[in-house]
Amino acid sequence: MKFKVAVVGAGAVGEEMVKVLRQRNFPISDLVVLARSSRKQLINGEEMDVKETTPEAFDDVDIAFFAGTEGAKGASQVYGWEAVSRGVFVIDNGDDFRMDARVPLVVPEVNPDAIGPEHRFIANPNCSTIQMVHALAPLHRIARLKRIVVSTYQSVSGTGSAAIKELQQQVEDYVAGRELRWEQYPYQIFANLIPQISSLKDEFPGYYGEEIKMIKETRKIFGIPDLAVSATCVRVPVFRGHAEAVNAEFHNPITADVARKALSEFPGIEVIDDPAASKYPMPIFAAHKDPTFVGRIRQDPCHPNTLDMWIVADNIRKGAALNAVQIAELVIDRGFVRPK
Ligand SMILES: NC(=O)c1ccc[n+]([C@@H]2O[C@H](COP(=O)([O-])OP(=O)(O)OC[C@H]3O[C@@H](n4cnc5c(N)ncnc54)[C@H](OP(=O)(O)O)[C@@H]3O)[C@@H](O)[C@H]2O)c1
Repeated sequence: MKFKVAVVGAGAVGEEMVKVLRQRNFPISDLVVLARSSRKQLINGEEMDVKETTPEAFDDVDIAFFAGTEGAKGASQVYGWEAVSRGVFVIDNGDDFRMDARVPLVVPEVNPDAIGPEHRFIANPNCSTIQMVHALAPLHRIARLKRIVVSTYQSVSGTGSAAIKELQQQVEDYVAGRELRWEQYPYQIFANLIPQISSLKDEFPGYYGEEIKMIKETRKIFGIPDLAVSATCVRVPVFRGHAEAVNAEFHNPITADVARKALSEFPGIEVIDDPAASKYPMPIFAAHKDPTFVGRIRQDPCHPNTLDMWIVADNIRKGAALNAVQIAELVIDRGFVRPK
């Protein structure tokens, strides 16, 4: 059984999507890449004909992975449900429909049963949410989550391909002694940390959009509408890989040893936790890899039933493209999608 697949968006996530589909031998009869404008583009070493996105482009498609820009003019809002109406199974990377009651928000290792045979539109959570809930899921099953306090250290690739180029340019300009310029962030990101990702929203005063996504998406994925979550999201001058310091409180006791064992047995998690030997996850090891890496697992000495840990994953792979492809593999496996 092979599927006609469309990848909508040919930026950082769209390119990785093609790569992941090829690497995992996804059952493809035909692959089309759509974007705002048509052109030839080198993607994963293949020169591909990127085509302009139109409603008709979805007519023959079985599964579409949306990796276009978010918002009113973005691919998902313009074409997402249109594609569904044309019989396409849609998996969306953006945040336009993540909180929509019709749309399951899924990390396959965590909440695969959120998808039923009636669903045609699935959302991929935000990159920083995916790696956090992935690492907390096995611990939640043992001791039941009560409260999460998270600080993130998020790479520029999370903003997209233009931000990757901007950091590269700033590094070159710094070395050449030229004045630095920026457009992607309110300040230079080179040699800096910016405690702002996205914009302020009224519903959680003082919190930026990325922080609110972590609160709301984590509650939806775990199915706990009043789960206590607080996040501080920081952009750091790293090209690829997001890191998170998480302090998680549970209803029931859980030791660091029990957590380490549960994490090392959980699908898609790799534990690197030998602090005496300076071994812990870092973006330089996680970049271009599939697992969510967890280390620095320890009991909070000042608070009962509480663990601290350090979580790192490739935001373009597990945080976006890989998770989306895993969702597609799951729905194929369950017989929820068939070629037209
Ligand atoms: N980067 C991450 O870590 C990450 C993680 C999770 C989720 N996401 C989400 O994934 C999506 C893509 O992110 P990215 O980092 O790949 O962005 P990006 O590098 O800026 O690329 C965006 C792509 O979307 C295309 N596009 C924009 N509007 C479109 C429209 N109306 N119709 C068709 N194509 C359209 C653009 O086409 P042109 O090339 O023709 O301009 C471009 O190829 C976003 O929703 C983002 O929030 C990103």
